[in-house]
Amino acid sequence: RTVAVVLAGGTGQRVGLAIPKQLLKIAGKSILEHTLCIFENAADVDEILVLMAADHTEEAERIIAKAGLRKVSRVLPGGSTRSETTSIAIRYVTENLPEGQDASLLFHDAVRPLLSQRVVKECVRALERYQAVDVAIPSSDTIIVTRTHGDDGEFITEVPDRSRLRRGQTPQGFHLSTIRRAYELALADPRFEATDDCSVVIKYLPDVPVHVVMGDEYNMKVTQPVDVFIADKLFQLASSAAPAAAAEDSYREALTGRTMLVFGG
Ligand code: CTP
Repeated sequence: RTVAVVLAGGTGQRVGLAIPKQLLKIAGKSILEHTLCIFENAADVDEILVLMAADHTEEAERIIAKAGLRKVSRVLPGGSTRSETTSIAIRYVTENLPEGQDASLLFHDAVRPLLSQRVVKECVRALERYQAVDVAIPSSDTIIVTRTHGDDGEFITEVPDRSRLRRGQTPQGFHLSTIRRAYELALADPRFEATDDCSVVIKYLPDVPVHVVMGDEYNMKVTQPVDVFIADKLFQLASSAAPAAAAEDSYREALTGRTMLVFGG
């Protein structure tokens, strides 16, 4: 059984609006609805669990009812950190799993509404072989490591080899028993902190290999104010060719078409 866990428990401080960024409307639908539709339309996903910012669970339920999303089993309030939200989901799935069944969980940021079906499918397939799966893309930028020296600001301490660096995206997929064990160990550690779930497995279950599936540039995370504008443009490009977030190919076609128009004068 594959359960998509949509993490929408944050409030979007960096975008800085009065409502959480996952409730912003882009191309006629909230970001949350775009993301939920991807999993509703994914043949390999059996159930969707939504973890929503505590003051907005009713709004999420309204969106789900209006869109007729049948795979959503529950909307639960998220926690105060992303990891806390994840552990609420792990507990819920564990307690509600039919006797004798195992589950795979795909944790996905609600604010990545341009995830492709190709990536979902590859994650589910990888979980048939591996206990843990991440999604990542190569980095176009050089990544530097810095250290702050008092009032003098930051200085470079290291420039890691770019060819080995990847930018982590979501979904991150796990066998339920694996992520549950990793979180049990993490929650017993007073110094535990994490911004994603693969790092919890790497730190607390170092013997578990984490397989990496190739993500794509369109699977952006709406994080800064400029990202709202970029996501809106990407939906506009895709809208004539395909239903929201249906396929990377439709963006590519749209982009190529536009480029040709520009160069064609
Ligand atoms: N998230 C969550 N529970 C939290 C914090 C974050 O489920 N307590 C989710 C967010 O809703 C988002 C994803 O994790 O879909 C990625 O987090 P991020 O972009 O950092 O979202 P926010 O915490 O909302 O943003 P900010 O850090 O700017 O406040």
